[in-house]
Amino acid sequence: MACGQLSRAEALACSGCRHACHVMLYSDTESQLFGKIPIRHIILMQMRFDGLLGFPGGLVNPSEETLEAGLSRELLEELGVALPISIEDHVDSCHAPASSPSSPSRLITHFYVKKMEEEQIKEVERAAASTAPDHGQEVLGMVRVPLYTRKGGGGLAPFLSHSFIGNARSQLVDSLLRLNLVAPEDLHRALTHSLEIHSHTAEDLKVSLALTDARRKHF
Ligand code: APR
Ligand code: MG
Repeated sequence: MACGQLSRAEALACSGCRHACHVMLYSDTESQLFGKIPIRHIILMQMRFDGLLGFPGGLVNPSEETLEAGLSRELLEELGVALPISIEDHVDSCHAPASSPSSPSRLITHFYVKKMEEEQIKEVERAAASTAPDHGQEVLGMVRVPLYTRKGGGGLAPFLSHSFIGNARSQLVDSLLRLNLVAPEDLHRALTHSLEIHSHTAEDLKVSLALTDARRKHF
């Protein structure tokens, strides 16, 4: 991963550090988009209150609860379901990206992955949009990650070109590779296309900015 790895013990021994735990929930699926494009896996992410994509989870205080119990508590708030998370689901821990090179981050992020049955994932999606206390507030909505690539390039590449919180994009890409959910060459192609999309997005943003500039001068 892009960030410096810490063992669980090193992470917990860091005095003055804050801790955040997030999880990638996923399942296999036989379903097909438009009845012909295999969806293969359902991976859950969320549109956060800050407009960024991320994984469900949040801040945990290890002096009051275990990392896994804290993560389950966050999931109850954000997804409306008390999902048990165990130490075996832990993937890695690292310092969150620093906002400036001169002030290293005091936030340690712990990442988990949990495989579920398709029906359980669908149940989570239903609860997240109905009973979850954070729905419409800290969580604007759950989203599935499209793993396919359409003829015109639609699917994984445009998804990866969105803005993500912290190192959530690397956590996603790392998991896709490690769990063999997308072939490395397909992922490489998609990321190359994401970079191209990014430069088009910059042009598009300049056009929108020019529109607002014209409006501001008008009033
Ligand atoms: N990589 C690195 N940092 C991350 C990641 C990630 N993948 N995902 C989240 N973070 C950071 C967030 O920027 C935040 O600072 O971890 C911290 C906690 O994660 P959240 O999911 O945002 O925490 P949560 O407890 O759900 O929400 C509390 O309310 O008080 C505000 O701004 C505060 O973000 C916090 C939110
Ligand atoms: Mg959160």
